[in-house]
Amino acid sequence: PFIAIVAVLVSYLLGSIPAAAWVARSRGIDIRKIGSGNSGATNVLRSLGKGPALVVAIFDILKGVLAVLLGRALGLDAPYAALCGVAAVLGHNFSPFLGFRGGKGVATSFGVLAMINPVVGAVTFVLAIFCMWLTRFVSAGSIMGAATALVVILIVSAPLWMIAMTSFLALLLIWQHRENVKKLQEGRERRLGEKA
Ligand code: G3P
Repeated sequence: PFIAIVAVLVSYLLGSIPAAAWVARSRGIDIRKIGSGNSGATNVLRSLGKGPALVVAIFDILKGVLAVLLGRALGLDAPYAALCGVAAVLGHNFSPFLGFRGGKGVATSFGVLAMINPVVGAVTFVLAIFCMWLTRFVSAGSIMGAATALVVILIVSAPLWMIAMTSFLALLLIWQHRENVKKLQEGRERRLGEKA
């Protein structure tokens, strides 16, 4: 229906707000030209420090949360509200403000997952953080989170639409990390705490 299409488009625009790029620009830095070049909280952490990174991480998580809440507030059925969340992640990764490029969708996908299935969101969060702590690679933890979500969504016998959307977000996240995977293999990936 019309209202669902509008909600999805608004969610895409909400997701496309490039918090990392704009926070960095406000400090005179082009996030695309520093560190990994990624418009995300991890790259803000290595180029600007903890405070700005926390702001970006929270903002990007909220984009996913708010998109799902928008869908719900407009009275959409759960699958359509979740689709709003997916649209926010697509906006984040392929932002019109950044020439249809963007971040890798870790924080925003987490916000969406936490909304559509809090149990899977919580398990995913714990395993991702544990993997980041263990390896000191945010990318490895993010990929671990995506893999966890893929497995756990099947274990908890979720509805088909939830399995489909979670799988889509997880596979998209892993695809967005293809450069990181290459760097990990070649031993060039920056560890947590390494400055840009
Ligand atoms: O924030 C996304 C994270 O998984 C990797 O970011 O900057 O190390 O490519 P980055």
